[in-house]
Amino acid sequence: MKTFKYTGTRRQFLKSTAAASLVYSLLPRIASATEARVIKKTIPSSGERLSVIGLGTSRTFDVSDSADSISPLVEVIQAFFDRGGQLIDSSPMYGNAESVTGALLEQVKNRQGLFTATKVWTNGRDEGMAQMQRSMERMGVDTIDLMQIHNLRDWRVHIETLVDWKAQGKIRYIGITTSHGRYHKDLEKIMQQLPLDFVQFSYNITDRAAEQRLLPIARERGIATLINRPFQRGSLFRLVKSESLPGWAAEIDCASWGQFFLKFIASHPGVTCIIPATSKLKHMVDNMTAGYGRLPDERTRQHMIEYVEWL
Ligand SMILES: NC(=O)c1ccc[n+]([C@@H]2O[C@H](COP(=O)([O-])OP(=O)(O)OC[C@H]3O[C@@H](n4cnc5c(N)ncnc54)[C@H](OP(=O)(O)O)[C@@H]3O)[C@@H](O)[C@H]2O)c1
Repeated sequence: MKTFKYTGTRRQFLKSTAAASLVYSLLPRIASATEARVIKKTIPSSGERLSVIGLGTSRTFDVSDSADSISPLVEVIQAFFDRGGQLIDSSPMYGNAESVTGALLEQVKNRQGLFTATKVWTNGRDEGMAQMQRSMERMGVDTIDLMQIHNLRDWRVHIETLVDWKAQGKIRYIGITTSHGRYHKDLEKIMQQLPLDFVQFSYNITDRAAEQRLLPIARERGIATLINRPFQRGSLFRLVKSESLPGWAAEIDCASWGQFFLKFIASHPGVTCIIPATSKLKHMVDNMTAGYGRLPDERTRQHMIEYVEWL
């Protein structure tokens, strides 16, 4: 049988499943009790504070915009706002996701913290402007908080429009995205050159390439970071499918693997906001719970990596 030695000093009773379940059952109530306890990070270019757990919409919100398809998602997005969620990330690339987000936002209550993020994903100045205008209509807003250039596409052209639109107040922040470890070299150069408020890329406990250059450059240049694929598109759950959470995870207020993966990311000092995607209420509550309580320190982060590598 495999054994894993934890060198921490906390009490052993936290190893028991009963203790972990108790923590889990308490957290959502603690979460909804006071918004002040939501973990927030600062956007360096403005000083604005943003809840660390946001929401992705790729695939999960790409459903038909009929009432029947949308209604199961209303309680999912409501749970997001009820637990202090703010940033929702979409793209014209995600089929119906922008329109579905817009329809959901019409039905949701207490969305005052909403922070919209979407992308421009086409070639050409006029096409880009038309697409961004359409995104605003689809999402039902007059201003997009964060407009990002999707996968660096035609960035030399779109950056000029974005600077202009920011000056006009049509968007509040400018960003650029990549994922899956693609274009890191190009992105490094772009981060040094462009007037970016945000940069988005993949980072999770098994894909840590961003720790080498992207996260340090973002910190150095004062660029906020959005983290996509926090669960490696869900495959991290398959990795731990038959494994129980180590008891010491309760020391950082983790009662599920989802929270374990998200808290690992949230605790990196260069991370501003993580955007896990889900279509399920249970998973939304789970993910939002990661935005409360204690985060791992550097030593525990190393321990988390070793534990997952050992599985
Ligand atoms: N280039 C880019 O700009 C780019 C590229 C990739 C992604 N993104 C953005 O990043 C977002 C997140 O990335 P992603 O959607 O690829 O992957 P992800 O968030 O790593 O994984 C999503 C998957 O995890 C499952 N899941 C979520 N929470 C869970 C939980 N607590 N327990 C168990 N399963 C859970 C979801 O299924 P259920 O629905 O069953 O919960 C879904 O299948 C995207 O939606 C998109 O907004 C941007």
